[in-house]
Amino acid sequence: MPIIEALITWAHLVSAAIWVGGSLFIGVVLAPLLKTITESAEQRLAIMIRVGRKFNRIAIPSLVILIITGIYKSSNLLIKPELIFSTNYGTILVIKIILVIILIGIFIAHVRIIRSQIEKKIESKEMSNDSFQKLRSTIISLGRIIVIISVIILLLAALLNEGI
Ligand code: HEM
Repeated sequence: MPIIEALITWAHLVSAAIWVGGSLFIGVVLAPLLKTITESAEQRLAIMIRVGRKFNRIAIPSLVILIITGIYKSSNLLIKPELIFSTNYGTILVIKIILVIILIGIFIAHVRIIRSQIEKKIESKEMSNDSFQKLRSTIISLGRIIVIISVIILLLAALLNEGI
C-alpha cells in the first residue's frame, strides 16, 4: 500500500535527520561554543559526555528505526541476491550496509567510553593528565568519524534515490 511505503520512508527520513542532524549539531555548534564558555578542558569534556549520553536517548532509537526501515526498504533487492552485485543499485546498497555496520561498531565504542563512571572520574580529577588527553582525543576522533560516515551514508542514499 503506498501510504505504508510513505510512512516507512518518513520514519527512515525522520530518523536520519535526528541521527545526522544531532551529531552535526554537537560537533559543529555545541563543541566550539563550549570552548568559549567553559573554564577547563575537563569541564568541557564532562559536559560533552553528558550531552552525548542525553542525545543517545533519541539517537539509539533512531539508529534502530533506520536499520529496521532500511532492511524493509531493501527487501525487494535482498530477496533477489543475483541483482545485488549485477546492478549499481545493489552494489551501492551493499556499500551503504557495510558503512552502517562500521558505524554501529564505532558508535558502540563511543557509547562505552562515555559511561557515567568516566564523567565522575573527570569531574573529581581522578585521572592523570596523560590519560585525560588520550580519552579526550579518542572521544573527539570517534565523534568525527561517526559524523563523516553518516554524511557518506547520506550521499549513498542520494545515489540510490537517483538510480545511479
Ligand atoms: C545511519 C544510517 C542510515 C541513514 C542516515 C540513512 C539515510 C537514508 C536517506 C536520507 C534515504 C533517502 C530516503 C528515500 O529515498 O527513501 C535513505 C534511503 C534508503 N535507505 Fe537508508 N539510511 C540509513 C540506514 C540504512 C540501512 C541500514 C539500510 C538497509 C539495510 C538502508 C536502506 C535504504 C534504502 C533501500 C533506501 C531507498 C533508496 C531508494 O531507492 O530511493 N538505509 N536512507
